[in-house]
Amino acid sequence: MKPETIRAVRGVQDILPAQTPAWQHAEAVARGAFHRYGFGEIKIPVFEKTRLFARGIGESTDIVHKEMYTFEDRSGDSLTLRPEATASIVRAYREHHLDKTGDVTKVYFIGPMFRYERPQAGRFRQFHQIDCEVFGASHPAVDAEIIALAWEILSALGLTGLGLEINTLGDPGDRPAYLKALRAYFADHLDRLCEDCDRRFQENPLRILDCKKPGCLAVAAASPALLDHVSRASRETFEKVLRLLDEEKIPHRVNPRLVRGLDYYTHTAFEITAEGLGAQNAVAGGGRYDGLVETLGGPPTPATGFAIGMERLISLLPETGDDRDGRKVFLVALGEGASERAFGWAQQWRRAGLSVLWDFDGRGLKAQMKKADRSGAAFAVLIGEDEIEAGAARVRDLRDGVQRPVPFDEIPARILEGLS
Ligand code: HAM
Repeated sequence: MKPETIRAVRGVQDILPAQTPAWQHAEAVARGAFHRYGFGEIKIPVFEKTRLFARGIGESTDIVHKEMYTFEDRSGDSLTLRPEATASIVRAYREHHLDKTGDVTKVYFIGPMFRYERPQAGRFRQFHQIDCEVFGASHPAVDAEIIALAWEILSALGLTGLGLEINTLGDPGDRPAYLKALRAYFADHLDRLCEDCDRRFQENPLRILDCKKPGCLAVAAASPALLDHVSRASRETFEKVLRLLDEEKIPHRVNPRLVRGLDYYTHTAFEITAEGLGAQNAVAGGGRYDGLVETLGGPPTPATGFAIGMERLISLLPETGDDRDGRKVFLVALGEGASERAFGWAQQWRRAGLSVLWDFDGRGLKAQMKKADRSGAAFAVLIGEDEIEAGAARVRDLRDGVQRPVPFDEIPARILEGLS
């Protein structure tokens, strides 16, 4: 019997060599921006103790309630594949005493996250985030700064039609009065809410505002607005963030019902949307979470951050046109004499800094040129008996078809210079 063909798990994707240049480009742009804003890179584990996420993200959230990849390891400990980075970074920040530097700590992380969601366009079970967090600074300028940073990364990558939705969740002290108002409002509309929102009503009515079902959205649209229930100080802090965004000419829309899907937010919460994403239109989201370090056992610590969804980001990158690699050559060796020396030339040119491919099987000119064309190389270097005799190869620029003789010992240097 023929063995079963094993395919990838639903909702997870391979990222193939033809696609990785876009991923590398996005990461390079993000790393450059993080560097300019004073962030250092952190690397966190793929899995953590389940209770870190349960406590950090909140029991009443969809993520903790039904989307975590949780398993028992061989010693019976409950572990979970990270559904986001913030809780892990808070744990690492405490565990390694990054708070003891007495200064603001700025870290970023790029890597995969895992959520058991219903897969669809722009929504996966393994997806990647570009995440950053700032600890130890409560000034609203820090919120404006990270929003400007996210905006800068997305703009530098050529995304268009960006929109910023922003809200304030106020101080934790503002919350009880608002929850009371929400409860009173939703109590009159329970028959119009979905089953999940029935549970949310009991556990945390704030979560109803995050439900995407049309019926619940319609009810939520007329619910009390957070902004009307926050203290004067919270409102002033929020206004300061908005003013700084105006200064940076970052257009924004205050969405008084934006609460985001994680429980830890206080004060500023935001999402960046982009044209062309359809229903899953948030390419980035974040906000301030001044209570999370304390929830996870540390001292009160102001903190703020965001995450960009990489799959959504990559799907929006503009086409780059001809993307042949100017440092890549395909060596077309013709005839026995050249074929025998091809290995040595390829090694020599690689040591000089070129990326080199060649045809081990010594096929004919036409077949090798076809391979050269498909390889993404910018140059084909043709060497046969005549070229060996003349001491110069024919170097053909595959972008414009121009061909020139180049002495063997000058090949890598001339190509690296752009072959003028
Ligand atoms: P989040 O809104 O859950 O926030 O995720 C941030 C971004 O990750 C989303 O805007 C989206 O682009 C992407 N994303 C989320 N889930 C999926 C999925 N299933 N498939 C594809 N992309 C997805 C957080 O994770 C917070 N930790 C952000 C943060 C950092 N807040 C403060 N610091």
